[in-house]
Amino acid sequence: ALQLTLAVVKPDAVAHPLILEALHQKILQNFIIVRKKDLMWRTEDSERFYAEHAGRFFYQRLVEFMSSGPMRVYILAREDAITYWRGMMGPTKVFRARFTSPDTLRGQYGLTDTRNTTHGSDSVYSAKREISFFFPEFNADEWMSRE
Ligand code: CMP
Repeated sequence: ALQLTLAVVKPDAVAHPLILEALHQKILQNFIIVRKKDLMWRTEDSERFYAEHAGRFFYQRLVEFMSSGPMRVYILAREDAITYWRGMMGPTKVFRARFTSPDTLRGQYGLTDTRNTTHGSDSVYSAKREISFFFPEFNADEWMSRE
């Protein structure tokens, strides 16, 4: 069945127009783009989104990085969207991505464990939370039952 996920193109990738465009084309080829917007976070938004990582050693640099420049967010739909997008992204850590999954988005474009190009929801529960974080007015049930 059709599933929704939230995908983020992080500030490191948005800063490079050719990378941003390449990512957009890959998304177009693989998903229905349900919503798309460009925005920039305040530090507080970054802290709230990543609250589950508060206290981890990388939290501060993650929060600073994610509010350092514009990002692009998408609601994406397809069969098995959550797992499919995570497969396209590849491993979080840049070393693993480069050497074990060079064809993934992070394998190709990731710079460091923090500046790793993209984010994707990791479960149905987090997809719901993250979609309403960025698109509070979006009604998933209504979209799913559209003509
Ligand atoms: P993301 O999928 O957005 O989820 C949490 C983010 O924390 C992750 O991608 C990385 O950008 C960042 N991060 C930095 N260092 C690490 C690390 N060692 N392990 C996991 N995530 C990290």
